Amino acid sequence: MVTGARLAPLPLLLLLLLLRSLPAAAPALPCASRAGRACDARGRRDAGGRGGVYEHLGGAPRHRKLYCATKYHLQIHANGKINGTLEKNSVFSILEITAVDVGIVAIKGCFSGRYLAMNERGRLYASETYNSECKFVERIHELGYNTYASHLYRTVPNGASSKRKASAERLWYVSINGKGRPRRSFKTRRTQKSSLFLPRVLDNKDHDMVRLLHTNTKYRESLLKPPSKNQRRRRGH
Ligand SMILES: *[C@@H]1O[C@H](CO)[C@@H](O)[C@H](O)[C@H]1NC(C)=O
Repeated sequence: MVTGARLAPLPLLLLLLLLRSLPAAAPALPCASRAGRACDARGRRDAGGRGGVYEHLGGAPRHRKLYCATKYHLQIHANGKINGTLEKNSVFSILEITAVDVGIVAIKGCFSGRYLAMNERGRLYASETYNSECKFVERIHELGYNTYASHLYRTVPNGASSKRKASAERLWYVSINGKGRPRRSFKTRRTQKSSLFLPRVLDNKDHDMVRLLHTNTKYRESLLKPPSKNQRRRRGH
């Protein structure tokens, strides 16, 4: 049902054909050096100020917040949980987004030190270590929103699911529903509000919190200490 095979979407193929027919249109340097790889010209459009990360391939990560169209900021927690907050300045919504390949990003919680990840069951979690479940394909969609799809898992039309008509391959998107909870990713669509994210630059308050994190050990420890209620409950078992 699930495979790591690469997707070769039709629009990209058309784009490549178009680029080939317009030799002077764009410098094909990064694309030509990646034989067989789809070259995402849209990525370069994102490279400007608005949350773009592509120009930093192999460079320093960018600090961003991911604001979902459901009005929640994505949070990466130290206890392994992913959810959304309506708060404008939550420490766990401050993220480091790094391009790990063309069009592929890793998203790390600045305060939790954990990576956004999706498992084979389509559940989001915060991984302590970077692995292939932490790779997401970043795409630009309408109104400046981005989507983030698992690079590893997707629904492939075969076997049981092929009984249904129009069972095209479907990507599994990072998605925060209207209650601030992550949706099971195999149920997501790129057109749903819950799958659309606006990368936002940090405001002054966010920058202050990042500065505190790096300079004040007590502040850092107080944030990462698990709530005592949970500790008691765990000890009880
Ligand atoms: C998000 O998760 C954190 C950590 O588990 C929790 O403290 C918080 O209440 C959750 N927020 C929402 C909106 O579910």
